[in-house]
Amino acid sequence: MSNIAIFASGSGSNAENIVRFFENDPDISISIIVSNKPDAYVHQRAKKLGVPSVTFSKSDFDTTSKVLDLMTEHHIDLIVLAGFLIKVPANLIEAYPHSIVNIHPALLPKFGGKGMYGDNVHKAVVEAKETETGITIHHVNSNYDEGDIIFQSKCKIDPNDNPDMVAAKVHELEYEYFPQIIKGLLK
Ligand code: GAR
Repeated sequence: MSNIAIFASGSGSNAENIVRFFENDPDISISIIVSNKPDAYVHQRAKKLGVPSVTFSKSDFDTTSKVLDLMTEHHIDLIVLAGFLIKVPANLIEAYPHSIVNIHPALLPKFGGKGMYGDNVHKAVVEAKETETGITIHHVNSNYDEGDIIFQSKCKIDPNDNPDMVAAKVHELEYEYFPQIIKGLLK
């Protein structure tokens, strides 16, 4: 049995999609959802899905071993960042080499880095008049959006697409591919 922890800061639609994907998998369990925001909608999704969720402050992440201790307690094999918007601290990166993955809503190395998350990314992509965008699933290292790329998938942008329309296309790709890539990493 492999155990996954999902880290999420916001709505958590990817977190929910991943939980549902593995619901009947005998080999993979979503053990816990971790957030840095007590009021993030992901907690309501977690409750509905029957997955425990917890909140840690940024200083808990950065200056204590509380999060790492929780990972050890739950025998976590893989940490999945699904819309997690603070930097993963060094103690977790050291404890989980090549076992922390992130999804980014664009084709890295374009439109990555600090401040590039969620709708900011889609707005920047539209402003730059890109004709395509997509998703990047990558390992996490100590720099934002710079770990080894595991998988990318693209979608077309029509000239009249606004950032919300681009976000919807990107979410479709995320829902289709992220759970499958996670499964591949664990099998
Ligand atoms: C997703 O689109 C994810 O790719 C993005 O945040 C969104 C979270 O949506 N992540 C980043 O921008 C990381 N830099 P969700 O909360 O509905 O899953």
